[in-house]
Amino acid sequence: MLYTPPKDMRHKAVAAELTAKQMFMLFPTPMFTGKLPDIGLCDRIEKKVRELQKSGQGMSSPEGTILAYMTPDDIQHLPEMKELVDVIMWESGNILDAYKIKRDSHYIANMWANIANPNRRHHMHIHPNCLLSGLVYIKSPKHCGSTVFASPRQLSKNLEPTYLEKNELNSDVFVSPAEKGRMLIWPSHMPHAVEQGSADESEERIVVAFNVMIRGLIELHTGRLDLR
Ligand SMILES: [Fe+2]
Repeated sequence: MLYTPPKDMRHKAVAAELTAKQMFMLFPTPMFTGKLPDIGLCDRIEKKVRELQKSGQGMSSPEGTILAYMTPDDIQHLPEMKELVDVIMWESGNILDAYKIKRDSHYIANMWANIANPNRRHHMHIHPNCLLSGLVYIKSPKHCGSTVFASPRQLSKNLEPTYLEKNELNSDVFVSPAEKGRMLIWPSHMPHAVEQGSADESEERIVVAFNVMIRGLIELHTGRLDLR
């Protein structure tokens, strides 16, 4: 990707300056996003997730602590999730195509839902053993916690100057406000967290998260991996 330097970097050429200057943006980290075509799907999913919670399946935070419930991590097989699974399979297939990843097929390896207090923080983490990860906001009370993504290059910074303003060259975080029906998909190695929210605590924040993996034989010399 060729980056056009901002105006203040394009001084009139002087003798000590290069001509025909260019700056290439190398090794991008893509974030894919879009909205569900039928927002009513969120309400149907919420109903099923609450049923799972009531039935005692999954994990709940201990009594007296801030609310956090997580369903089992294989809900992609439930018939009530099929509509969502179809969207995820289609969009993740397009992303794997954009990456030109050779494969026999792809599949959702794990899928789970979280029902949480809208202001609850969640620590920075990555999703292991998958290529793509994603989420869809099912319920997003006003001012509930945003999802924050951290640059994978952050750990390589041992000198941090003071920046006069943030731009795409010096930013190490990307904040995605929770928005019902919005789906995000990213390469699984990208660290992410949930920020503290400031919402009315009468409503919960509900998210479905998922991991996508490929099937096939990776024929890389000294890095052969059989995923068939
Ligand atoms: Fe996550």
